[in-house]
Amino acid sequence: QEQQLNNGAHRRRRRVVLFSLPFQGHLNPTLKLAALLHARGLAVTVLHTDLNAPDPARHHPGLAFVPIHETLLPGDPAVSPDSDILAKLLALNAASAAPFRDALASLLLRGGHDDAVACVVVDGQCYAAMRAAGELGVPVLALRTDSAAALGNMLAIPRLRDAGYCLPIKEEKLDEPVRGLEPLRVRDLIRVDGCDADDLCGFVASVAGAVEASVSGIVLNTFDAIEAPELAALRRELSLPAFAVGPLHMLFRRAGAPPPPEQGPHAPDGTCLAWLDARPPRSVLYVSLGSLATVGRSVFEEMAWGLARSGVPFLWVVRPGFVTGAGAGDSEDAPPPLPKGFEEEIKDRGKIVKWAPQREVLARTAIGAFWTHCGWNSTLESVCEGVPMLVQPCFGDQMVNARYVTHEWGVGMEVGEVIQRERVAVAVKKVMVGEDGAQMRERARRLQMQASDATSSAMDGLVQYIMSL
Ligand code: UDX
Repeated sequence: QEQQLNNGAHRRRRRVVLFSLPFQGHLNPTLKLAALLHARGLAVTVLHTDLNAPDPARHHPGLAFVPIHETLLPGDPAVSPDSDILAKLLALNAASAAPFRDALASLLLRGGHDDAVACVVVDGQCYAAMRAAGELGVPVLALRTDSAAALGNMLAIPRLRDAGYCLPIKEEKLDEPVRGLEPLRVRDLIRVDGCDADDLCGFVASVAGAVEASVSGIVLNTFDAIEAPELAALRRELSLPAFAVGPLHMLFRRAGAPPPPEQGPHAPDGTCLAWLDARPPRSVLYVSLGSLATVGRSVFEEMAWGLARSGVPFLWVVRPGFVTGAGAGDSEDAPPPLPKGFEEEIKDRGKIVKWAPQREVLARTAIGAFWTHCGWNSTLESVCEGVPMLVQPCFGDQMVNARYVTHEWGVGMEVGEVIQRERVAVAVKKVMVGEDGAQMRERARRLQMQASDATSSAMDGLVQYIMSL
Protein backbone atom coordinates (compact mmCIF):
# COMPACT_ATOMS: atom_id res chain seq x y z
CA GLN A 1 0.00 0.00 0.00
CA GLU A 2 2.91 2.31 0.89
CA GLN A 3 4.35 1.52 -2.54
CA GLN A 4 1.03 2.37 -4.17
CA LEU A 5 0.96 5.65 -2.24
CA ASN A 6 4.44 6.57 -3.41
CA ASN A 7 3.75 5.55 -6.98
CA GLY A 8 0.62 7.61 -6.91
CA ALA A 9 2.16 10.73 -5.37
CA HIS A 10 2.84 12.39 -8.73
CA ARG A 11 -0.79 11.82 -9.64
CA ARG A 12 -2.28 13.50 -6.58
CA ARG A 13 -3.59 16.19 -8.90
CA ARG A 14 -7.12 14.94 -9.27
CA ARG A 15 -9.75 14.90 -6.57
CA VAL A 16 -12.62 12.48 -6.29
CA VAL A 17 -15.69 13.49 -4.31
CA LEU A 18 -17.82 10.69 -2.85
CA PHE A 19 -21.34 10.87 -1.46
CA SER A 20 -23.41 8.08 0.10
CA LEU A 21 -26.88 7.89 1.54
CA PRO A 22 -26.62 7.47 5.31
CA PHE A 23 -27.38 3.73 5.53
CA GLN A 24 -24.71 1.50 7.08
CA GLY A 25 -24.90 -0.86 4.10
CA HIS A 26 -24.12 2.04 1.74
CA LEU A 27 -21.72 4.15 3.83
CA ASN A 28 -19.34 1.31 4.65
CA PRO A 29 -18.55 0.30 1.06
CA THR A 30 -18.34 3.98 0.07
CA LEU A 31 -15.75 4.65 2.79
CA LYS A 32 -13.77 1.58 1.72
CA LEU A 33 -13.78 2.81 -1.88
CA ALA A 34 -12.70 6.26 -0.64
CA ALA A 35 -9.70 4.77 1.18
CA LEU A 36 -8.74 2.58 -1.80
CA LEU A 37 -8.86 5.53 -4.23
CA HIS A 38 -6.77 7.59 -1.83
CA ALA A 39 -4.23 4.76 -1.58
CA ARG A 40 -3.93 4.90 -5.35
CA GLY A 41 -2.87 8.52 -5.26
CA LEU A 42 -6.12 10.42 -5.72
CA ALA A 43 -7.17 13.23 -3.40
CA VAL A 44 -10.50 12.33 -1.82
CA THR A 45 -13.34 14.31 -0.26
CA VAL A 46 -16.28 12.53 1.36
CA LEU A 47 -19.46 14.60 1.43
CA HIS A 48 -21.86 13.22 4.01
CA THR A 49 -25.16 13.87 5.72
CA ASP A 50 -25.39 14.81 9.41
CA LEU A 51 -27.55 11.72 9.84
CA ASN A 52 -25.21 8.78 10.64
CA ALA A 53 -22.21 11.01 9.93
CA PRO A 54 -18.91 9.11 9.69
CA ASP A 55 -16.34 9.85 12.39
CA PRO A 56 -13.29 11.28 10.54
CA ALA A 57 -11.02 10.22 13.43
CA ARG A 58 -11.68 6.57 12.58
CA HIS A 59 -10.57 6.94 8.98
CA HIS A 60 -7.40 7.67 7.07
CA PRO A 61 -6.21 11.22 7.94
CA GLY A 62 -5.74 11.88 4.22
CA LEU A 63 -9.49 11.77 3.55
CA ALA A 64 -11.35 15.09 3.82
CA PHE A 65 -14.86 14.91 5.32
CA VAL A 66 -17.40 17.67 4.60
CA PRO A 67 -20.95 17.64 6.01
CA ILE A 68 -23.71 18.80 3.68
CA HIS A 69 -25.99 19.75 6.62
CA GLU A 70 -29.31 18.45 5.34
CA THR A 71 -32.45 19.44 7.21
CA LEU A 72 -34.50 16.60 8.67
CA LEU A 73 -37.31 17.55 11.01
CA PRO A 74 -38.46 15.07 13.68
CA GLY A 75 -41.01 12.74 12.11
CA ASP A 76 -39.43 12.99 8.64
CA PRO A 77 -39.81 9.58 6.90
CA ALA A 78 -36.01 9.49 6.60
CA VAL A 79 -35.69 9.05 10.36
CA SER A 80 -39.08 7.71 11.38
CA PRO A 81 -38.97 4.09 12.64
CA ASP A 82 -42.40 3.62 11.06
CA SER A 83 -41.38 4.35 7.47
CA ASP A 84 -40.30 1.61 5.06
CA ILE A 85 -37.05 1.60 3.10
CA LEU A 86 -38.64 3.15 0.00
CA ALA A 87 -40.10 6.04 2.00
CA LYS A 88 -36.66 6.57 3.55
CA LEU A 89 -34.96 6.56 0.14
CA LEU A 90 -37.41 9.09 -1.29
CA ALA A 91 -37.13 11.33 1.77
CA LEU A 92 -33.33 11.22 1.84
CA ASN A 93 -33.14 12.04 -1.86
CA ALA A 94 -35.41 15.03 -1.31
CA ALA A 95 -33.53 16.22 1.77
CA SER A 96 -30.04 15.92 0.30
CA ALA A 97 -30.58 17.38 -3.20
CA ALA A 98 -30.06 21.10 -2.49
CA PRO A 99 -27.44 20.82 0.30
CA PHE A 100 -25.41 18.31 -1.76
CA ARG A 101 -25.50 20.64 -4.72
CA ASP A 102 -24.39 23.61 -2.61
CA ALA A 103 -21.58 21.65 -0.96
CA LEU A 104 -20.32 20.36 -4.31
CA ALA A 105 -20.56 23.80 -5.91
CA SER A 106 -18.44 25.34 -3.17
CA LEU A 107 -15.86 22.54 -3.51
CA LEU A 108 -15.69 23.26 -7.24
CA LEU A 109 -15.18 26.98 -6.59
CA ARG A 110 -12.45 26.28 -4.03
CA GLY A 111 -10.57 23.69 -6.13
CA GLY A 112 -7.15 24.85 -7.32
CA HIS A 113 -5.13 23.47 -10.20
CA ASP A 114 -3.43 21.02 -7.87
CA ASP A 115 -6.44 18.93 -7.10
CA ALA A 116 -9.22 19.78 -9.52
CA VAL A 117 -12.30 17.60 -9.09
CA ALA A 118 -12.12 14.79 -11.63
CA CYS A 119 -15.51 13.27 -10.82
CA VAL A 120 -18.03 12.50 -8.11
CA VAL A 121 -18.85 8.96 -7.07
CA VAL A 122 -22.44 9.07 -5.89
CA ASP A 123 -24.62 6.47 -4.21
CA GLY A 124 -26.44 4.76 -7.08
CA GLN A 125 -29.77 5.12 -5.25
CA CYS A 126 -29.32 8.89 -4.87
CA TYR A 127 -30.81 10.15 -8.11
CA ALA A 128 -31.02 13.68 -6.68
CA ALA A 129 -27.26 13.91 -6.15
CA MET A 130 -26.47 12.28 -9.52
CA ARG A 131 -28.63 14.88 -11.25
CA ALA A 132 -27.27 17.79 -9.24
CA ALA A 133 -23.66 16.83 -10.01
CA GLY A 134 -24.51 16.37 -13.68
CA GLU A 135 -26.09 19.84 -13.79
CA LEU A 136 -22.92 21.29 -12.29
CA GLY A 137 -21.01 19.73 -15.18
CA VAL A 138 -19.04 17.24 -13.08
CA PRO A 139 -18.60 13.70 -14.42
CA VAL A 140 -20.62 11.29 -12.28
CA LEU A 141 -19.95 7.64 -11.43
CA ALA A 142 -22.76 5.75 -9.70
CA LEU A 143 -21.66 3.44 -6.86
CA ARG A 144 -24.00 0.48 -6.47
CA THR A 145 -23.75 -1.10 -3.04
CA ASP A 146 -25.97 -3.99 -4.14
CA SER A 147 -25.27 -6.79 -6.61
CA ALA A 148 -25.27 -6.61 -10.41
CA ALA A 149 -28.26 -8.97 -10.39
CA ALA A 150 -30.17 -6.65 -8.04
CA LEU A 151 -29.44 -3.65 -10.26
CA GLY A 152 -30.58 -5.65 -13.31
CA ASN A 153 -33.80 -6.50 -11.47
CA MET A 154 -34.32 -2.89 -10.47
CA LEU A 155 -33.91 -1.58 -14.01
CA ALA A 156 -36.40 -4.20 -15.20
CA ILE A 157 -39.15 -3.15 -12.76
CA PRO A 158 -41.20 -1.07 -15.25
CA ARG A 159 -41.18 -3.97 -17.74
CA LEU A 160 -42.01 -6.46 -14.98
CA ARG A 161 -44.86 -4.30 -13.84
CA ASP A 162 -46.32 -4.20 -17.33
CA ALA A 163 -46.04 -7.99 -17.41
CA GLY A 164 -48.04 -8.23 -14.17
CA TYR A 165 -45.15 -9.14 -11.89
CA CYS A 166 -45.55 -6.34 -9.35
CA LEU A 167 -47.42 -6.70 -6.08
CA PRO A 168 -49.91 -8.09 -5.38
CA ILE A 169 -48.79 -11.22 -7.24
CA LYS A 170 -51.05 -14.21 -7.68
CA GLU A 171 -49.90 -17.19 -5.59
CA GLU A 172 -49.68 -19.50 -8.61
CA LYS A 173 -47.21 -17.18 -10.35
CA LEU A 174 -44.68 -17.06 -7.52
CA ASP A 175 -42.52 -19.97 -8.70
CA GLU A 176 -42.46 -18.94 -12.36
CA PRO A 177 -39.00 -18.07 -13.68
CA VAL A 178 -38.62 -14.44 -14.77
CA ARG A 179 -37.54 -14.26 -18.40
CA GLY A 180 -34.31 -12.33 -18.80
CA LEU A 181 -33.56 -12.39 -15.07
CA GLU A 182 -32.84 -16.10 -14.56
CA PRO A 183 -32.26 -17.66 -12.02
CA LEU A 184 -34.81 -15.37 -10.36
CA ARG A 185 -38.36 -16.57 -9.89
CA VAL A 186 -41.23 -14.17 -9.37
CA ARG A 187 -40.95 -14.66 -5.59
CA ASP A 188 -37.28 -13.56 -5.67
CA LEU A 189 -37.90 -10.18 -7.28
CA ILE A 190 -37.05 -7.00 -5.36
CA ARG A 191 -40.00 -6.01 -3.22
CA VAL A 192 -40.82 -3.86 -0.26
CA ASP A 193 -43.88 -5.25 1.47
CA GLY A 194 -46.61 -2.71 1.99
CA CYS A 195 -45.13 -0.15 -0.40
CA ASP A 196 -47.09 1.21 -3.29
CA ALA A 197 -46.18 -0.21 -6.76
CA ASP A 198 -46.46 3.32 -8.25
CA ASP A 199 -43.99 4.69 -5.68
CA LEU A 200 -41.54 1.87 -6.41
CA CYS A 201 -41.82 2.42 -10.17
CA GLY A 202 -41.47 6.17 -9.65
CA PHE A 203 -38.29 5.66 -7.65
CA VAL A 204 -36.83 3.30 -10.25
CA ALA A 205 -37.70 5.73 -13.03
CA SER A 206 -35.90 8.51 -11.15
CA VAL A 207 -32.79 6.37 -10.70
CA ALA A 208 -32.81 5.19 -14.32
CA GLY A 209 -33.44 8.75 -15.55
CA ALA A 210 -30.54 10.14 -13.52
CA VAL A 211 -28.23 7.37 -14.76
CA GLU A 212 -29.21 8.08 -18.35
CA ALA A 213 -28.89 11.85 -18.04
CA SER A 214 -25.84 12.22 -15.84
CA VAL A 215 -23.76 9.10 -15.31
CA SER A 216 -20.48 8.22 -17.05
CA GLY A 217 -19.91 4.84 -15.40
CA ILE A 218 -21.08 2.38 -12.76
CA VAL A 219 -18.99 1.05 -9.90
CA LEU A 220 -20.14 -2.17 -8.23
CA ASN A 221 -18.99 -3.98 -5.09
CA THR A 222 -19.04 -7.37 -6.79
CA PHE A 223 -16.64 -9.54 -8.78
CA ASP A 224 -16.63 -11.48 -12.03
CA ALA A 225 -16.41 -14.98 -10.58
CA ILE A 226 -19.87 -14.68 -9.03
CA GLU A 227 -21.68 -12.32 -11.42
CA ALA A 228 -20.03 -12.34 -14.87
CA PRO A 229 -23.27 -12.82 -16.91
CA GLU A 230 -25.14 -10.23 -14.82
CA LEU A 231 -22.32 -7.72 -15.31
CA ALA A 232 -22.22 -8.37 -19.05
CA ALA A 233 -26.01 -7.84 -19.24
CA LEU A 234 -25.72 -4.54 -17.38
CA ARG A 235 -22.95 -3.27 -19.66
CA ARG A 236 -25.13 -4.09 -22.68
CA GLU A 237 -28.25 -2.54 -21.21
CA LEU A 238 -26.70 0.67 -19.93
CA SER A 239 -24.02 1.10 -22.61
CA LEU A 240 -21.75 2.34 -19.84
CA PRO A 241 -18.46 1.11 -18.41
CA ALA A 242 -19.16 -0.95 -15.28
CA PHE A 243 -16.28 -1.55 -12.86
CA ALA A 244 -16.74 -4.61 -10.64
CA VAL A 245 -14.23 -3.59 -7.96
CA GLY A 246 -15.33 -5.94 -5.17
CA PRO A 247 -15.14 -7.50 -2.77
CA LEU A 248 -13.90 -4.12 -1.48
CA HIS A 249 -12.80 -5.35 1.93
CA MET A 250 -10.67 -8.08 0.32
CA LEU A 251 -8.62 -5.50 -1.59
CA PHE A 252 -7.34 -4.18 1.74
CA ARG A 253 -6.43 -7.65 2.87
CA ARG A 254 -4.38 -8.15 -0.28
CA ALA A 255 -2.61 -4.83 0.27
CA GLY A 256 -1.76 -5.95 3.83
CA ALA A 257 -3.84 -3.20 5.44
CA PRO A 258 -6.97 -3.50 7.59
CA PRO A 259 -10.12 -2.10 5.95
CA PRO A 260 -11.61 0.96 7.68
CA PRO A 261 -13.81 0.02 10.66
CA GLU A 262 -17.46 -0.66 9.87
CA GLN A 263 -19.67 2.19 10.91
CA GLY A 264 -22.50 0.73 12.98
CA PRO A 265 -25.44 1.92 15.06
CA HIS A 266 -23.76 0.57 18.23
CA ALA A 267 -20.26 -0.15 19.44
CA PRO A 268 -19.32 -3.71 18.42
CA ASP A 269 -19.28 -6.05 21.42
CA GLY A 270 -15.83 -7.64 21.20
CA THR A 271 -16.51 -10.05 24.09
CA CYS A 272 -18.11 -12.40 21.60
CA LEU A 273 -14.71 -13.02 19.97
CA ALA A 274 -13.25 -14.56 23.15
CA TRP A 275 -16.48 -16.52 23.58
CA LEU A 276 -16.09 -17.85 20.02
CA ASP A 277 -12.42 -18.66 20.50
CA ALA A 278 -13.33 -21.02 23.34
CA ARG A 279 -15.55 -23.08 21.01
CA PRO A 280 -14.60 -25.96 18.67
CA PRO A 281 -14.22 -25.31 14.92
CA ARG A 282 -17.46 -24.91 12.93
CA SER A 283 -19.64 -25.39 16.02
CA VAL A 284 -21.37 -21.97 16.27
CA LEU A 285 -24.19 -20.49 14.19
CA TYR A 286 -23.89 -16.70 13.78
CA VAL A 287 -27.30 -14.99 13.54
CA SER A 288 -27.73 -11.40 12.36
CA LEU A 289 -30.27 -9.66 10.15
CA GLY A 290 -28.15 -6.55 9.48
CA SER A 291 -28.76 -2.95 10.42
CA LEU A 292 -32.28 -2.26 9.11
CA ALA A 293 -34.45 -5.38 9.04
CA THR A 294 -37.02 -5.76 11.80
CA VAL A 295 -39.32 -8.59 12.90
CA GLY A 296 -42.56 -8.75 14.87
CA ARG A 297 -42.61 -10.21 18.37
CA SER A 298 -43.98 -13.60 17.30
CA VAL A 299 -41.24 -14.15 14.66
CA PHE A 300 -38.65 -13.09 17.25
CA GLU A 301 -39.96 -15.68 19.70
CA GLU A 302 -40.01 -18.41 17.05
CA MET A 303 -36.40 -17.57 16.11
CA ALA A 304 -35.38 -17.75 19.77
CA TRP A 305 -37.13 -21.04 20.54
CA GLY A 306 -35.98 -22.54 17.23
CA LEU A 307 -32.38 -21.75 18.20
CA ALA A 308 -32.97 -23.20 21.66
CA ARG A 309 -34.50 -26.37 20.26
CA SER A 310 -31.73 -26.95 17.70
CA GLY A 311 -29.23 -27.64 20.46
CA VAL A 312 -26.62 -25.77 18.37
CA PRO A 313 -24.41 -23.07 20.01
CA PHE A 314 -25.17 -19.63 18.57
CA LEU A 315 -24.10 -15.99 18.60
CA TRP A 316 -27.14 -13.75 17.96
CA VAL A 317 -27.15 -10.03 17.21
CA VAL A 318 -30.32 -8.61 18.79
CA ARG A 319 -30.04 -4.88 18.30
CA PRO A 320 -32.32 -2.24 19.84
CA GLY A 321 -35.26 -1.71 17.49
CA PHE A 322 -34.96 -5.23 15.99
CA VAL A 323 -38.47 -6.10 17.21
CA THR A 324 -41.30 -3.76 16.24
CA GLY A 325 -44.85 -3.39 17.53
CA ALA A 326 -46.11 -4.98 20.72
CA GLY A 327 -43.30 -6.59 22.73
CA ALA A 328 -40.61 -4.33 21.24
CA GLY A 329 -39.45 -3.23 24.69
CA ASP A 330 -39.71 0.08 26.50
CA SER A 331 -36.50 1.78 25.49
CA GLU A 332 -35.14 2.82 22.09
CA ASP A 333 -31.60 2.12 23.28
CA ALA A 334 -32.16 -1.30 24.80
CA PRO A 335 -32.65 -4.56 22.89
CA PRO A 336 -36.10 -6.14 23.06
CA PRO A 337 -36.70 -8.39 26.08
CA LEU A 338 -35.85 -12.04 25.46
CA PRO A 339 -38.68 -14.60 25.74
CA LYS A 340 -39.38 -15.69 29.30
CA GLY A 341 -37.29 -18.67 30.33
CA PHE A 342 -35.06 -18.45 27.21
CA GLU A 343 -31.80 -17.55 28.97
CA GLU A 344 -32.28 -20.26 31.60
CA GLU A 345 -32.86 -22.74 28.77
CA ILE A 346 -29.79 -21.88 26.67
CA LYS A 347 -27.33 -21.02 29.48
CA ASP A 348 -23.82 -20.63 27.99
CA ARG A 349 -24.79 -22.28 24.70
CA GLY A 350 -25.91 -18.97 23.27
CA LYS A 351 -24.43 -15.48 23.33
CA ILE A 352 -26.49 -12.41 22.55
CA VAL A 353 -25.00 -9.03 21.64
CA LYS A 354 -26.41 -5.67 20.53
CA TRP A 355 -23.89 -5.41 17.66
CA ALA A 356 -21.01 -7.68 16.66
CA PRO A 357 -17.68 -7.06 14.89
CA GLN A 358 -19.17 -9.07 12.02
CA ARG A 359 -16.21 -9.40 9.70
CA GLU A 360 -14.03 -10.65 12.56
CA VAL A 361 -16.81 -12.98 13.73
CA LEU A 362 -17.18 -14.57 10.30
CA ALA A 363 -13.42 -15.13 10.11
CA ARG A 364 -13.38 -17.12 13.40
CA THR A 365 -12.87 -20.87 13.01
CA ALA A 366 -15.71 -21.52 15.49
CA ILE A 367 -18.29 -20.23 13.00
CA GLY A 368 -20.11 -23.03 11.19
CA ALA A 369 -22.82 -21.07 9.37
CA PHE A 370 -24.45 -17.63 9.13
CA TRP A 371 -28.22 -17.11 9.51
CA THR A 372 -28.50 -13.92 7.48
CA HIS A 373 -31.03 -11.57 5.87
CA CYS A 374 -28.75 -11.54 2.79
CA GLY A 375 -27.95 -7.85 2.77
CA TRP A 376 -25.33 -7.58 0.04
CA ASN A 377 -22.49 -6.69 2.45
CA SER A 378 -23.29 -9.63 4.72
CA THR A 379 -23.57 -11.94 1.72
CA LEU A 380 -20.17 -10.87 0.38
CA GLU A 381 -18.56 -11.09 3.83
CA SER A 382 -19.87 -14.63 4.26
CA VAL A 383 -18.70 -15.63 0.77
CA CYS A 384 -15.24 -14.21 1.47
CA GLU A 385 -14.90 -16.28 4.65
CA GLY A 386 -16.26 -19.49 3.11
CA VAL A 387 -19.20 -19.60 5.54
CA PRO A 388 -22.42 -21.33 4.38
CA MET A 389 -25.69 -19.46 4.94
CA LEU A 390 -29.18 -19.96 6.25
CA VAL A 391 -31.18 -17.28 4.47
CA GLN A 392 -34.08 -15.19 5.69
CA PRO A 393 -34.43 -12.31 3.20
CA CYS A 394 -36.61 -9.49 4.51
CA PHE A 395 -36.97 -6.83 1.80
CA GLY A 396 -35.53 -5.18 -1.31
CA ASP A 397 -32.47 -6.75 -2.92
CA GLN A 398 -32.19 -9.38 -0.16
CA MET A 399 -34.64 -11.62 -2.06
CA VAL A 400 -32.37 -11.55 -5.11
CA ASN A 401 -29.21 -12.22 -3.09
CA ALA A 402 -30.86 -15.11 -1.25
CA ARG A 403 -31.72 -16.79 -4.57
CA TYR A 404 -28.12 -16.54 -5.75
CA VAL A 405 -26.85 -17.91 -2.42
CA THR A 406 -29.19 -20.90 -2.41
CA HIS A 407 -29.67 -21.69 -6.09
CA GLU A 408 -26.89 -20.20 -8.18
CA TRP A 409 -23.90 -20.68 -5.87
CA GLY A 410 -25.32 -23.50 -3.73
CA VAL A 411 -23.80 -22.15 -0.51
CA GLY A 412 -26.96 -21.77 1.53
CA MET A 413 -30.51 -22.88 2.21
CA GLU A 414 -33.73 -21.20 3.28
CA VAL A 415 -34.62 -21.08 6.93
CA GLY A 416 -38.23 -21.47 5.80
CA GLU A 417 -40.91 -19.26 4.34
CA VAL A 418 -42.69 -19.26 7.66
CA ILE A 419 -40.47 -18.79 10.70
CA GLN A 420 -41.67 -21.48 13.05
CA ARG A 421 -39.65 -23.02 15.90
CA GLU A 422 -39.67 -26.69 14.84
CA ARG A 423 -38.78 -25.83 11.25
CA VAL A 424 -36.10 -23.42 12.42
CA ALA A 425 -34.53 -26.12 14.59
CA VAL A 426 -34.52 -28.58 11.66
CA ALA A 427 -32.98 -26.02 9.27
CA VAL A 428 -30.30 -25.02 11.80
CA LYS A 429 -29.27 -28.65 12.36
CA LYS A 430 -29.27 -29.32 8.62
CA VAL A 431 -26.86 -26.48 7.83
CA MET A 432 -24.65 -27.05 10.88
CA VAL A 433 -24.31 -30.81 11.13
CA GLY A 434 -26.17 -32.37 8.18
CA GLU A 435 -24.79 -33.79 4.93
CA ASP A 436 -26.39 -30.86 3.00
CA GLY A 437 -24.52 -28.45 5.25
CA ALA A 438 -21.22 -30.23 4.56
CA GLN A 439 -21.77 -29.89 0.79
CA MET A 440 -22.67 -26.22 1.12
CA ARG A 441 -19.53 -25.68 3.22
CA GLU A 442 -17.40 -27.31 0.53
CA ARG A 443 -18.91 -25.09 -2.18
CA ALA A 444 -18.54 -22.06 0.10
CA ARG A 445 -14.85 -22.90 0.53
CA ARG A 446 -14.42 -22.96 -3.26
CA LEU A 447 -16.22 -19.64 -3.61
CA GLN A 448 -13.99 -18.21 -0.90
CA MET A 449 -10.95 -19.16 -2.98
CA GLN A 450 -12.41 -17.42 -6.02
CA ALA A 451 -13.10 -14.33 -3.91
CA SER A 452 -9.55 -14.26 -2.65
CA ASP A 453 -8.33 -14.60 -6.26
CA ALA A 454 -10.40 -11.59 -7.37
CA THR A 455 -7.79 -9.20 -8.66
CA SER A 456 -7.49 -5.47 -8.24
CA SER A 457 -7.42 -4.97 -12.01
CA ALA A 458 -10.97 -3.54 -12.03
CA MET A 459 -9.88 -1.00 -9.42
CA ASP A 460 -6.84 -0.12 -11.55
CA GLY A 461 -9.17 0.28 -14.53
CA LEU A 462 -11.45 2.53 -12.50
CA VAL A 463 -8.55 4.78 -11.46
CA GLN A 464 -7.38 5.03 -15.07
CA TYR A 465 -10.88 5.91 -16.16
CA ILE A 466 -11.16 8.60 -13.47
CA MET A 467 -7.84 10.08 -14.61
CA SER A 468 -9.17 10.21 -18.16
CA LEU A 469 -12.34 12.12 -17.27
C1 UDX B 1 -28.80 -2.52 3.50
C2 UDX B 1 -29.79 -3.49 2.88
O1 UDX B 1 -30.53 -4.16 3.86
C3 UDX B 1 -29.10 -4.45 1.98
O2 UDX B 1 -30.04 -5.34 1.45
C4 UDX B 1 -28.39 -3.69 0.89
O3 UDX B 1 -27.77 -4.62 0.02
C5 UDX B 1 -27.39 -2.76 1.53
O4 UDX B 1 -28.03 -1.92 2.45
P1 UDX B 1 -28.07 -3.86 5.77
O5 UDX B 1 -29.47 -4.29 5.99
O6 UDX B 1 -27.46 -3.16 6.89
O7 UDX B 1 -27.87 -3.05 4.43
O8 UDX B 1 -27.26 -5.21 5.47
P2 UDX B 1 -25.82 -5.47 4.90
O9 UDX B 1 -25.69 -5.02 3.50
O10 UDX B 1 -25.57 -6.90 5.14
O11 UDX B 1 -24.85 -4.59 5.78
C6 UDX B 1 -24.69 -4.77 7.15
C7 UDX B 1 -23.27 -4.41 7.53
O12 UDX B 1 -23.24 -4.24 8.93
C8 UDX B 1 -22.26 -5.49 7.18
O13 UDX B 1 -21.12 -4.89 6.64
C9 UDX B 1 -21.96 -6.14 8.50
O14 UDX B 1 -20.62 -6.60 8.63
C10 UDX B 1 -22.22 -5.03 9.49
N1 UDX B 1 -22.68 -5.57 10.78
C11 UDX B 1 -23.91 -6.10 10.91
C12 UDX B 1 -21.81 -5.52 11.84
O15 UDX B 1 -20.67 -5.05 11.72
N2 UDX B 1 -22.25 -5.98 13.05
C13 UDX B 1 -23.48 -6.52 13.23
O16 UDX B 1 -23.78 -6.89 14.36
C14 UDX B 1 -24.35 -6.57 12.12
